[in-house]
Amino acid sequence: MLGSDLKTSTGVRVVVADDYAQMSRLAADIVTEVIAGNPGKAITLPTGGTPRGMYEVLTERINDGSLDFYSVEFFCMDDYLGKSIDDDTSLTAWLNGAFLKPANLSGPTIHFVPTMADDPDAAAQRYDAQIQGLGGFELAVLGIGNNGHIGFNEPGSPIDAETRVVDLTIESRDQNAAYYEDGSQIPDKAMTVGVKRFLEARRIVLIVSGAGKAEIVAKALEGPISSDVPGSYLQTAKDRLTVILDEAAAANLTLS
Ligand code: F6R
Repeated sequence: MLGSDLKTSTGVRVVVADDYAQMSRLAADIVTEVIAGNPGKAITLPTGGTPRGMYEVLTERINDGSLDFYSVEFFCMDDYLGKSIDDDTSLTAWLNGAFLKPANLSGPTIHFVPTMADDPDAAAQRYDAQIQGLGGFELAVLGIGNNGHIGFNEPGSPIDAETRVVDLTIESRDQNAAYYEDGSQIPDKAMTVGVKRFLEARRIVLIVSGAGKAEIVAKALEGPISSDVPGSYLQTAKDRLTVILDEAAAANLTLS
């Protein structure tokens, strides 16, 4: 590992991993540790390209019996409005394929974003209330979009945004359309856990990999705290935040 105790110019603690595999393992280690120490508490983990390696490690541990994932309440973070787990292009279907199925996870401790509800706004509020009813998140692991979104809290989202239905930006829709070879249409609305719930988490981990994210990582962690880059709100979490980057994603930061 290049650095395990580095800080950005704004005081954010950053771990620079040698590579993607190490970033994934370090993130999985934190998830494992938090789960072991907090039975009955709530956690949220992201979908996307970045966490795939972390899920592989978690799956291994669940399958060899060294991690009891059922001891916590797991809340999916976000998904497209009107897409269910049965729709291959939903984020929950992605999560199912990358994690829930290989790890044999199902049942009442696995909470899906209620994107199919008749009244999505009310359902989003209930999802939020469920998280708060468990005392908020013990752990939120986040990725960051090219436009600075966290979850699907897009640029313009306020720092106290609750779990809700959102309009997706063209940037986010393009980013996610790239995951599907057939050029699948990404809906223009989604439901996401709100910034506020992330920022209240007892522990927040941001994982980012690759040169393509170096610029947005620097904006989020060393730029002004602004709704233009929702990832910049993470700076306010201070010591509760751990950022794990590979070298390429850390390239534009001033670390010491
Ligand atoms: C996904 C999510 C998004 C992603 C972000 C990075 O559930 O909430 O905020 O974490 O778009 O995506 P990847 O990892 O695919 O670059």
